[in-house]
Amino acid sequence: MADATTTAAPARRAHPAHSALVGLTTLGVLLQGLWAGLFLGGTDDPGTWYDVHKHGAEATVALAALATVAAFVWLRHRTPVVVATALLFVLLVVEMLLGLADSSAAVAVHVPLAMLIMGLAVWLPVQARRG
Ligand code: HEM
Repeated sequence: MADATTTAAPARRAHPAHSALVGLTTLGVLLQGLWAGLFLGGTDDPGTWYDVHKHGAEATVALAALATVAAFVWLRHRTPVVVATALLFVLLVVEMLLGLADSSAAVAVHVPLAMLIMGLAVWLPVQARRG
């Protein structure tokens, strides 16, 4: 009789480096909301939090870029995971450019896009574990 462990389909697992990088990117997006709250919320020194938000954006985009490299290196056979990780990176670049654009219309897209990015960032690790 065949052993269940030899006949079952191979488990499709997330890669720890990809999971860690996606997790740190998600934390970066969450913190961006905090820094925005601090510079919008009338603190004594909104300029500092504005700068923190700007540099936080650079760090978050860099983490998403590394997560995309990790997806291509370790999960290249998992097309939905690679595409979703690359999409997370692209949307964060768009988000950063919208933040830097000096226009109220851009801000009106910037905030809801951040929420869409957070949704993708939460969905991505679930998808990576599911296969
Ligand atoms: C809920 C989350 C977020 C909120 C509420 C938010 C809000 C804002 C607001 C109100 C501004 C000022 C825009 C202006 O003055 O014209 C801004 C600027 C900016 N945001 Fe965000 N943001 C969020 C997330 C993000 C994320 C995830 C990124 C990057 C990946 C980002 C990158 C930037 C950048 C680069 C600027 C311009 C900073 C500068 O000019 O020095 N933001 N954000």
